[in-house]
Amino acid sequence: MKVKVSFIGLMDMLKFKNLKRDRLEAIRSTEIKPLKHYPVNDLADYYHPLKQYLKIAEIKEENKDTKSFVLVPDGEKSKKLAFFKAGSYISLYFKVGDSIASRAYAISSSPKEALEGKYRITIKRKVGGFLSSYMLDHAKVGDELFSTDPAGFLTYNSIRDAKNVIALAGGTGITPFISMANAIKDGIEDFNLTILYGVNKLEDAILKDELESIEKATNKVKVIYVIKDEEVKGAEKGLLTYETIKKYLPSNDEKYSIFISGPNAMFDFLEGELKKLNIENKFIRKEKSPETLNAGDKVFDILVHMEDETFTIKAKQDETVLNALERSGIVIRSKCHLGGCGFCRSRILKGEIATTKLNSQAEIDKKLHFFHPCCSYPMSDMEIEVYKY
Ligand code: FES
Repeated sequence: MKVKVSFIGLMDMLKFKNLKRDRLEAIRSTEIKPLKHYPVNDLADYYHPLKQYLKIAEIKEENKDTKSFVLVPDGEKSKKLAFFKAGSYISLYFKVGDSIASRAYAISSSPKEALEGKYRITIKRKVGGFLSSYMLDHAKVGDELFSTDPAGFLTYNSIRDAKNVIALAGGTGITPFISMANAIKDGIEDFNLTILYGVNKLEDAILKDELESIEKATNKVKVIYVIKDEEVKGAEKGLLTYETIKKYLPSNDEKYSIFISGPNAMFDFLEGELKKLNIENKFIRKEKSPETLNAGDKVFDILVHMEDETFTIKAKQDETVLNALERSGIVIRSKCHLGGCGFCRSRILKGEIATTKLNSQAEIDKKLHFFHPCCSYPMSDMEIEVYKY
């Protein structure tokens, strides 16, 4: 086959051939000067600060196992708080002795309060939960901590989501929906929110009074308690089944989105129920809780390289590499704790890991030996490279 190359085509080929050389020459001959400052960078820093330095301004007991913490900027290193979409979470870092502990918590307050310099998070004691017990038993007003910028996928988007949202909540999974309900009441969000809140007993429901006052203030928010262990007038008895959910779907074939937040056992149960609804996947949004892996009971050594420092730490096989690092006081970036955001991305130089099912990583990333310490369990002695936060 003959290929005809025109004069113009030939010039293009020559230009392409010299592209690399010309680009290198342009880089070499460019004068080195500081980057221009654009106001848009200030805006980006405001919405996505790398770190927010906070202190506890107020603690409120919600019930015997749950407390709310109002966090404000520390005033020195952080002057204001990033605005956020209702439903977002922050990853909180708390110093406990010589260790650091980080966890992701949904913000339960309205985004409007962020403009006034306040976030509220609501923590329930988790059986065997190290940070939840520490926060409930020892945290006090004035304590300092720091956090990431707000993040998450359980937020409303008027282009993507239907105008009617059915929120399925279990336990503290209610907190992002309380933020959404507040945002609707404050006029920051505009959609119809029906919350089906699954609890064992009505007394387990948190921020109940606040939800009630929101319902009174706006007809766009409705809360139905779905109670497993007792009959309560006006509430549903049982679990979040297809039959119960179906009762609260909008009438007249109006479109709806389903948002889910709660313990992972609830997600497993709902999988079958949602299939019966026959709803397209694009109308389902969910944010799961971190998974644990029963990897074994051995203890390994991990050689850790961080910038120009090297440490050797002990890591238990039944804890994540992130946990082992934090227990040794090594602070690296982390956000979702699920293996989804990539914020904790680090590199394995030697050794083996086991990861949870939720870990999501591009194949090329795995081939280049990057891993997510937040959802990886050590299976041997290791050598890793991490990035300081
Ligand atoms: S913290 Fe998100 S992937 Fe590890």
